[in-house]
Amino acid sequence: MNDNINFDRRKLLGGALIAAAAAALPDGAKATDPSDRVVKAAGERRSVMGLTKPKMKKVRFGVIGLGERGGSLVKTMLPIEGAEITAVCDIYAPALEKSVGLIEKTTGKRPAAITGSDEAYKELIDRKDVDAVIIATPWEWHVPMALYSINAGKETFVEVPAATSIEDCWKLVEASEARQVNCMMMENCCYGRSEMMVLNMVRAGLFGELTHGEAAYIHNLRYKLKDFIGEGKWRPEWYTKRRANTYPTHGLGPIAQYMNINRGDRFDYLVSMSSPALGWNAYAQREFPADSYRRKQHFVMGDMNTSIIQTALGRTILLQHDLSTPRQYSRLNLIQGVKGAFAGFPDRIAIDNGGDEFEWTTDLSSFKDKYDSALWKNLEQQMKASPDAHGGMDFVMLWRIVYCLRNGLPLDQNVYDAAAWSVAFDLTEQSVRDRSRPKDFPDFTSGLWKSMPPLSI
Ligand SMILES: NC(=O)c1ccc[n+]([C@@H]2O[C@H](COP(=O)([O-])OP(=O)(O)OC[C@H]3O[C@@H](n4cnc5c(N)ncnc54)[C@H](O)[C@@H]3O)[C@@H](O)[C@H]2O)c1
Repeated sequence: MNDNINFDRRKLLGGALIAAAAAALPDGAKATDPSDRVVKAAGERRSVMGLTKPKMKKVRFGVIGLGERGGSLVKTMLPIEGAEITAVCDIYAPALEKSVGLIEKTTGKRPAAITGSDEAYKELIDRKDVDAVIIATPWEWHVPMALYSINAGKETFVEVPAATSIEDCWKLVEASEARQVNCMMMENCCYGRSEMMVLNMVRAGLFGELTHGEAAYIHNLRYKLKDFIGEGKWRPEWYTKRRANTYPTHGLGPIAQYMNINRGDRFDYLVSMSSPALGWNAYAQREFPADSYRRKQHFVMGDMNTSIIQTALGRTILLQHDLSTPRQYSRLNLIQGVKGAFAGFPDRIAIDNGGDEFEWTTDLSSFKDKYDSALWKNLEQQMKASPDAHGGMDFVMLWRIVYCLRNGLPLDQNVYDAAAWSVAFDLTEQSVRDRSRPKDFPDFTSGLWKSMPPLSI
């Protein structure tokens, strides 16, 4: 993610997508596989890999969904140079008013405040003073809102996971290509300081050739059952319907970037298992009276979902998801190569300098001197003036989005990343239902992953 690199891959590739897609069926595609559509439509498709847009002097954002996440993104965005929030939308008046008040107080300008119905977001997207749309609503709204935004020609930024089904992942890819508009999933964990340092280490060859990664979202969120506004209102409903890894991208995004997924390698297939679903129900029993709604909900999402992904180059990735067990937060963030390994939570490293005994080193100071992210170092002061909800990674992500749009650069994450990382939601569910049988990842890039250069750093 070098600030100075302007690499218009679209021009470079010319008709490569069409040729690549027409040449072969995506790996593992069957007659009924939705990825058939790629081949059928190949002649009409134009890749958005490395998509660049004319430089924007100022990026005027509209934000839909101003709850915990959207409200926090608004606050973090306000001090970023070259960004303006011209319109906001929420169906919940207190959330809307809070963000409108903050924007007005900070900038002296009152944004357009849009509300009134579930479909009012269309009014925000249609506004002429909105160039880019941020979607931070419940999951069921991500795809309809993103499609409307893409089809309106607006640069589109959607919260995690971008979509919850294979079909919806394809819809985002196809719309983004058809309109030649960015659709980036805002995977903020890719901008964590440790994650960006590890990316530098990987690229410098510190771990040698990569063989294995471990990713997770292990975050005890049982307390959210006590909320009936905000996330507690909608997210637990998913846990009563989907026996899957419902939040795969926080851990998987950084590992995908280390492994050059969609840029030299790709996710090929996964197998998945879920443990019994006891945690949510036990918590509801413990915390709520017998006649309460929570006690009547029947949670089916296994407490621990464990999957293994095989990549096209034969690497393996352990992927875990646990929101309902009393244990410490972790995204694992482990990357292993022939010469060494890094693991997160807490950060530690092991490098092969000869010998046969290996222990984790937790003093990373000499590594930090060499591999710390330049972006983080440069933004440190600005970030301190505007602390975000996640220790700085949100600020770096938003800063980087604005920087890329203002400088006509490709974004760090594109719609193929959004689709490949999010589709694990659906694939884990399918594999769990099918006695852990392997499920193929669609090749959303239609073969372009083979020729794409790695993400610049
Ligand atoms: N990247 C991260 O670190 C991170 C952290 C938390 C949440 N998230 C994601 O952010 C999204 C929102 O989560 P949250 O915790 O803010 O939830 P939330 O419930 O606090 O906020 C969602 C907001 O969307 C509004 N909304 C719902 N339907 C709407 C509609 N049709 N039109 C306009 N507004 C509508 C709700 O009124 C609410 O204010 C989710 O996708 C979640 O996965 C990401």
